[in-house]
Amino acid sequence: MSFYGERVLPHVINVVMHNKQTREIRARVCGGLAGEVLEIGFGTGHNLPFVPGEVTRLLAVEPSTRSVDLARSRITAAPFDVEVVGLDGQRLPVDDASVDAVLCTWSLCTIPDPVAAVAEARRVLRPGGRFHFVEHGRAPDERVRRWQDRWNPMQQRIAGGCNVNRDIRAIVEAGGLTVTTLDNYYSKGEPKVLGAMYEGLAVAT
Ligand SMILES: C[S@@+](CC[C@H](N)C(=O)[O-])C[C@H]1O[C@@H](n2cnc3c(N)ncnc32)[C@H](O)[C@@H]1O
Repeated sequence: MSFYGERVLPHVINVVMHNKQTREIRARVCGGLAGEVLEIGFGTGHNLPFVPGEVTRLLAVEPSTRSVDLARSRITAAPFDVEVVGLDGQRLPVDDASVDAVLCTWSLCTIPDPVAAVAEARRVLRPGGRFHFVEHGRAPDERVRRWQDRWNPMQQRIAGGCNVNRDIRAIVEAGGLTVTTLDNYYSKGEPKVLGAMYEGLAVAT
């Protein structure tokens, strides 16, 4: 990985991903989590303060060791065990049907094969277990979609492989999960190209 990707980008993401709007979204997406939870794309641990007390252990999967370093104070403050168990959401080092829920926030945009990551989430979820997600992705409006396709190569370069134009619903379904709740909206104060949100729940059946 480049110096920018390894040493600079984690700090940028740590700041950019922490604002009033992301905090409100994280609170909603983490609501209802309980038991043993696996988080794909743990980043700098910004979800931890929103994870309910019913969670007993959180297994974190994150390729950036610098990001995990930046999460240390949040890990220490968490009222449950946080264990970094792997580097790649596409290959989870966890047994089949062993976790109660999987959490994934703004990471399917960046994971090279996001369908593989969702299929892994499905594999490790207990039957009936839920996938809690929020992602930015392909916009509902054709005009915005055209701009997303134009902008995407630049986004990939400056944001560590992030894509703005992925159809998140299609990815979650292709990974074998059943979407039970989905809210599509443009986030406030962000260009529509970057801010077409997919917030929801999917279940492993
Ligand atoms: C935009 S950041 C979001 C971080 C965090 N989920 C949050 O909500 O603040 C995308 C994250 O996906 C991670 N990522 C990239 N490739 C990945 C992979 N193959 N498996 C798991 N996570 C990955 C990045 O390192 C980064 O932490």
